[in-house]
Amino acid sequence: MTSNLKLNRWVEEMAALCQPDQIRWCDGSEQEYNEMFQLMLATGTAERLNEELRPNSYLVRSDPADVARVEDRTFICSENEDDAGPTNNWAEPKEMREKLGGLFAGSMRGRTMYVIPFSMGPIGSHIAHIGVQLSDSPYVVANMRTMTRMGTKVLDTLGAEGNFVPCMHSVGYPLVDGREDVPWPCDGEQKYIVHFPESREIWSYGSGYGGNALLGKKCFALRIASAMARDEGWLAEHMLILKITSPEGESKYICAAFPSACGKTNLAMLNPTVKDWKVETIGDDIAWMKFGDDGRLYAINPEAGFFGVAPGTNMSSNPNAMLTLTENAIFTNCGKTPEGDVWWEDMSDPPPSLIDWRGNDWTPESDSPAAHPNARFTAVASQCPVISDEWQDPNGVPISAILFGGRRATVVPLVAEARDWQHGTFMGSIISSEKTAAAAGKIGELRRDPMAMLPFCGYNMGDYWSHWLDVGRKQGAQMPLVYYVNWFRKGDAGNFLWPGFGENSRVLKWVFERCNGSANAVNTPIGNLPTPESLDLDGLSVDDDALKTLLTVDREGWLQELPLIRDYYARFGDRMPEELTSFVDNLEKELSA
Ligand code: OXD
Ligand code: MN
Repeated sequence: MTSNLKLNRWVEEMAALCQPDQIRWCDGSEQEYNEMFQLMLATGTAERLNEELRPNSYLVRSDPADVARVEDRTFICSENEDDAGPTNNWAEPKEMREKLGGLFAGSMRGRTMYVIPFSMGPIGSHIAHIGVQLSDSPYVVANMRTMTRMGTKVLDTLGAEGNFVPCMHSVGYPLVDGREDVPWPCDGEQKYIVHFPESREIWSYGSGYGGNALLGKKCFALRIASAMARDEGWLAEHMLILKITSPEGESKYICAAFPSACGKTNLAMLNPTVKDWKVETIGDDIAWMKFGDDGRLYAINPEAGFFGVAPGTNMSSNPNAMLTLTENAIFTNCGKTPEGDVWWEDMSDPPPSLIDWRGNDWTPESDSPAAHPNARFTAVASQCPVISDEWQDPNGVPISAILFGGRRATVVPLVAEARDWQHGTFMGSIISSEKTAAAAGKIGELRRDPMAMLPFCGYNMGDYWSHWLDVGRKQGAQMPLVYYVNWFRKGDAGNFLWPGFGENSRVLKWVFERCNGSANAVNTPIGNLPTPESLDLDGLSVDDDALKTLLTVDREGWLQELPLIRDYYARFGDRMPEELTSFVDNLEKELSA
């Protein structure tokens, strides 16, 4: 219980609607976390891993009908359809409320309703915000304890008058009429992930997985927070935050936005190959940025843990993630070895046999993967060997540069610097990624993912761009420098031209030196590109032709891209900021000159 009247009233109201057998206020203790796993062991939801190989860790298998975020079941219910914009699924708020009322009525019968108070960001930070999730899932309680600051201390900070974002969640599997529980209860047929941006509410029904169910992450920290940020003059972004330190001991903080599954966690934790430079992690997925008294943007990581994609993570792609996962971790939909450890594709040589994510026998000859491609690990950020000392600083860290990137086999060079914030906003608005299955060079098969926010912007993307432009207009020269990077450029033979991973530190070093005014660049129609001498290539074996492709402007390619950008912009009608359209016009002129 709490002294917060609004919270008490809401909990009572929701309990009357969902009719749980009992209500439990989560305190966030270790004992409570362990109890959640006792419950999950009893229902067959979780298995304990081998204590010697993976201490205090669990494997959970979800229902095959509930394995990922469901973008087509995700709704933005603003009063006006235009305020959700063409990139979101809109639903009429009143109708949606009626629908949700029906779905949630009695949805928790036979279960416990957990009250999960959580803070996104260090408790008490002026950049942080509080949410309260009601859920009937012990898996959610355990994951929320790792991913957020959760429990009694949040209620203390909320106090009697504090405000919170209500986050309603049910797996949609009431235990009525003698129905037995199952290891992963969900409603495979009906899922609704619903946001009301004006009243700042989240309602999620039918799924227990990841971003559908851990409502602090995508639903609150991005979709609802992006709308709060627009109204209050700050930024809520799908970005990692890292700290980079030069051999002289000078540090800068950099944010980077990439679409899902383009290596944000790898970049956030990279081991630099440039001698005596250091990279440390502040966050791997989300950045909240507010202005300090000095007019600079300060960022916090609103999360307290990592909920990362497991397949592809290994000791060479991301050793620091692997070391973060050695204990106290939750693994979802991974394979299980006969020794009682987890395994996923590309973790190491495949073991001769194991139990796959569906619970079936598996061998390397099997047709399907051992781990689901969206299998996940959950671990606290403090276990990361390269976590930065400042990762919990309530004041945030001052951001010097923002990187945008996507997966582009063609056209986009290794790195280009925007001329100013407004130009950087243009760069972010045109980010696109090739679907990995698409043939190289087929520009028609791009998915535009502006600022990597396509599935996460809680309002009209055209208005979101206007907000970015406004923020820059107000703060001018104090804004971070902006870059467009591409680690994924390919040669004619389909080979990657840039080695990526730790070698990306060479680009980070150039960015750092640009911020200090000590590295050279050439002005091109698409922005400032490094001169070959300014990029530290010491000890790197990339041949001259590859370097040339990586560091020059593909005029023809860009000219072919312009009509696609115009078509994309046209979708936003009168919400499209003219300033961005004029960047396309200018680019065309400069490319044709
Ligand atoms: C994530 C995503 O889970 O972007 O972080 O999909
Ligand atoms: Mn993400």
